[in-house]
Amino acid sequence: MKKVLNYINGEWCEGSSGKFIPVTNPANGQVLAEVTQSTNDDVDRAVNAAKSAQKEWSLVPAPDRAEVLYKVANLLKERKEEIAQILTSEMGKVIDEGRGEVQEAIDMAFYMAGEGRRLFGDTIPSELRNKFAMSIRVPIGVVGIITPWNFPIAIASWKSLPALVSGNAVVWKPATETPMVAQEFVKIYEEAGLPKGLINLVNGSGSVVGSAMVDHPQIDLISFTGSNEVGKAINGRAGELLKRTSLEMGGKNAVTVLEDADLDLAVEGILWGAFGTAGQRCTATSRVIIHKDVKEELEHKLISRIKELKMGDGLDETVKVGPVINGAALERIDEYVKIGQEEGAKLLTGGQIVKGNGLENGNFYEPTIFTNVTPEMRIAKEEIFGPVVSIISVNSLEEAIEVNNSVEFGLSSAIYTANVNKAFAAMRDLDTGIVYINAGTTGAEIHLPFGGTKGTGNGHRDSGVAALDVYTEWKAVYVDYSGKLQRAQIDNY
Ligand code: UN1
Repeated sequence: MKKVLNYINGEWCEGSSGKFIPVTNPANGQVLAEVTQSTNDDVDRAVNAAKSAQKEWSLVPAPDRAEVLYKVANLLKERKEEIAQILTSEMGKVIDEGRGEVQEAIDMAFYMAGEGRRLFGDTIPSELRNKFAMSIRVPIGVVGIITPWNFPIAIASWKSLPALVSGNAVVWKPATETPMVAQEFVKIYEEAGLPKGLINLVNGSGSVVGSAMVDHPQIDLISFTGSNEVGKAINGRAGELLKRTSLEMGGKNAVTVLEDADLDLAVEGILWGAFGTAGQRCTATSRVIIHKDVKEELEHKLISRIKELKMGDGLDETVKVGPVINGAALERIDEYVKIGQEEGAKLLTGGQIVKGNGLENGNFYEPTIFTNVTPEMRIAKEEIFGPVVSIISVNSLEEAIEVNNSVEFGLSSAIYTANVNKAFAAMRDLDTGIVYINAGTTGAEIHLPFGGTKGTGNGHRDSGVAALDVYTEWKAVYVDYSGKLQRAQIDNY
């Protein structure tokens, strides 16, 4: 059986629990490998390695640090297909999306490598004569990253690459469901010549490894993407320790379709947003807010198109919807569908765990659409993280915005309209970190900030230049070349 190991201080090694757990293909239940389980001791060793490597790394000129990232980018590019296949086998998303996700990591590697020659600070005029003022970015130190299974390489790239180019060292806990892709990513860092100790992979559960990372006094920052429940716990503990956190959590994203919209275009966007990655994106479309005048027509179009979405193993190029991650997810989704029915929503299509068709060994849930949903229903408010979408009907743009903004999350929203005035008003009023006009709720590009308002996060952003603010401190530097005491706020007045 293939074994997935830890990588600590430049060595591949077993976690000190001595235990391994299986890595399973969600499309067919096949065990692909087993992954080592770590303890506090492994976290401690990883942090010590990171701490001692980081000092020297912070002194390496940023353009030289970036050279390693360019190599990472090129290696990812060479191995794109191979990594996409591994990703699809252990995570389940269809292979096209697997390739797209590896591309997201490639893009991020090139983009952050470019930052090696920027990492801009500011020069700012001093209020005094013969005095120079500037602000510079400095690394934070040892960065702990905790990543989810739904975008196992893209999100790891969003976090590790800006951390490294800024001069930090990384301790990384990947999701237990997707350690194989994590291992491939670390192998690429190794092959690219990243000095030992700068990236450390520690496999294991959130309750053991994740907690040990949050508690560790030498980890200066935790960057986490995952559930709100875990994010809140991390933030609480990190708050006591005065540790910086960057949290990216849930979504309840809506596509609004106005009466003047191109309905066929909207249908494409909704299907892709709701059922791509089997609905397991933070940015997934889980609500459709529709103007009452076009509700019926849109529903007809959705039902007829949904039949074309072939389900199956994501490695089959003709498949459009893959499995969900595991049995527990399948049960949770099914539970929400029952809740929706009890709440009085009408099931338009789907609503069943798939049995038969050779899919019974995988975790497949039918693409599901509810209609006549009201904003107070739980299925309209809570994140389901599966292929379930709720249609809510409204009378106006104003009401659509109100419904869009009524949930506790604020990640992504989309609006379909041909009216430029309404589009701009929506752009202003939709209270989410990402807004799409005439496109669905997914499709973020790596050079723009990614993140959300309200319960989605704590104000930080992954990707884009904004990511550098997570992984650096600002240092303000004043150089007085007047040769005398100059008192700010006093001698200049
Ligand atoms: C996530 O949903 O966790 O915009 C990340 C998108 C992808 C990234 C999603 N580029 O859907």
